[in-house]
Amino acid sequence: MLREKLSEEELKLLRRSFEIIGNIAIIEIPEELIGKKELIVNAILQKHKNIKTILRKVGEVEGVYRVAKYEKVYGEETETIAKEHGCRFLVDPTKVYFSSRLSTERERIARLVKNGERVLVMFAGVGPFAIVIAKLSKPKEVVGVELNSIAVEYFRKNVKLNKVENVVLMEGDVAEIVPKLDGEFDRILMPAPYSAESFVHLLKGKIKKSGFIHYYTFESENFEDQLNKKVEELFMKNGMLVKAVFMRRCGSFAPYVNRYVVDLEYIGEI
Ligand SMILES: C[S@@+](CC[C@H](N)C(=O)[O-])C[C@H]1O[C@@H](n2cnc3c(N)ncnc32)[C@H](O)[C@@H]1O
Repeated sequence: MLREKLSEEELKLLRRSFEIIGNIAIIEIPEELIGKKELIVNAILQKHKNIKTILRKVGEVEGVYRVAKYEKVYGEETETIAKEHGCRFLVDPTKVYFSSRLSTERERIARLVKNGERVLVMFAGVGPFAIVIAKLSKPKEVVGVELNSIAVEYFRKNVKLNKVENVVLMEGDVAEIVPKLDGEFDRILMPAPYSAESFVHLLKGKIKKSGFIHYYTFESENFEDQLNKKVEELFMKNGMLVKAVFMRRCGSFAPYVNRYVVDLEYIGEI
């Protein structure tokens, strides 16, 4: 759409993909193209009629709450409802973490959950993993733990919005909450790729034998082959014997650095 309106050089700088969360488009405009903002915004609006707000990402996802910095380039409203797998998620990406790009991964995990499982979602955000699991499978209980009080508020609203009953929401730091949780879980998710490593010790005594752990991490493409072994060793250092049963790339982070998930089967304590 912009081929006639931008020079060859400008077209090379233009980002071709962007994320859509509900009716918000999240785009990146390099500084060199900032003068062409109106043209870019209009092209998006012409192609995506349901877009009400366009946010330009001006800072990377950062901090404990993992929220990026945005500048509004069109519209005012930053709260929206993202839809996936028959679920709806009320979210404000300027205040909480949410990525529609993890939708396939959420479905993959939900389909692995067997009837009657007890599942723990650490770093639960506004609840997308917990709610998709509760909606698509038949767990006995899904416990979600989240630190950002605004995300917790959205999580609470999303539990109601999706009419899921077996989701238990806990506000606070996983380091304080997980040790206090009763019993063991059949499955534990650790969707905090930037820092999951420092929380691995919390799983000891909380995961059932033959249960599964979904461990998310950032890794360079060059070391992809060694990732399973690296994660097995990390758990071993924390006194847990695990076997990597599956690994896949589930997003990109930077050039040649991706988000990976490693599925681990828990064998037992060392
Ligand atoms: C990458 S986001 C993932 C959110 C959610 N699982 C999702 O996929 O949308 C990580 C989340 O962990 C939360 N968080 C960070 N440190 C935490 C901690 N120590 N205890 C509990 N939650 C934490 C952040 O606020 C953020 O919402």
